[in-house]
Amino acid sequence: MFDTHSHLFEDEFNNDRELCIKRAKDKMVKKCMLVGYSHEANLKAYNLTKQDPSFFYNSAGIHPSEVSVNLDNDMKMLEEFIDEHKVYAIGEIGLDYHYGKDDKEIQKEYFVAQMKLAEKYMLPVIIHSRDAIEDTYNILKMFPNVKGIMHCYSSSWEMAKEFIKLGYYIALGGVVTFKNAKNAKEVAKNIAIDKLLIETDCPYLAPTPYRGQRNETAYIYYTCEEIAKIRNEDFSYIDEQTSKNARKIFNVEDER
Ligand code: NI
Repeated sequence: MFDTHSHLFEDEFNNDRELCIKRAKDKMVKKCMLVGYSHEANLKAYNLTKQDPSFFYNSAGIHPSEVSVNLDNDMKMLEEFIDEHKVYAIGEIGLDYHYGKDDKEIQKEYFVAQMKLAEKYMLPVIIHSRDAIEDTYNILKMFPNVKGIMHCYSSSWEMAKEFIKLGYYIALGGVVTFKNAKNAKEVAKNIAIDKLLIETDCPYLAPTPYRGQRNETAYIYYTCEEIAKIRNEDFSYIDEQTSKNARKIFNVEDER
């Protein structure tokens, strides 16, 4: 499996990070994308990737909950980081109107500026969108040359089809294992297998049977298992196909 969205560099894992990595590998996780969200997190993701480059990849970006009045300075710093450090994607970026009702316009400016960076560096984007699906769609549509991932997708299957038309992959996480996750289950059932990715978003959103606890990359096993059950397909088929899709979007197709 390829965990396309992990924050294993977070402090939550300071006491047992090596064990978490071992457990992930023991549970058949082959690759793991460490997703940045702030200048500090981008560097942490990069440093952990350097420690185990055959297992990890890393991204860099400014999350919508991390925006400030310093757009120009933040973009300058981010671009310098990308120039000096290998990154495989721009993210996570996007819009979060759940936590940020009052700074929608600033969030949009950061989002657009980072989409421009992705276009310039020809990198895929990892999109965070919460309570902002229409505005997210309208901004992604402005950048036909940029492709990427709708991370932790939980909006409707109808909207998912629109993002797929724009060239985006849909990533499902632990939420799909929750009994009441109607949208995620519907997406899992209906999506073409070549558009589907799996992720943990650890330490957040642990799947059943660990719901409410700290999530970790090894638990992606339960998400893959649930999707296989919903689609009535083999676990190994979901594993192989979603891993192949992940290698394709991150441009690491030669790496196994
Ligand atoms: Ni995340």
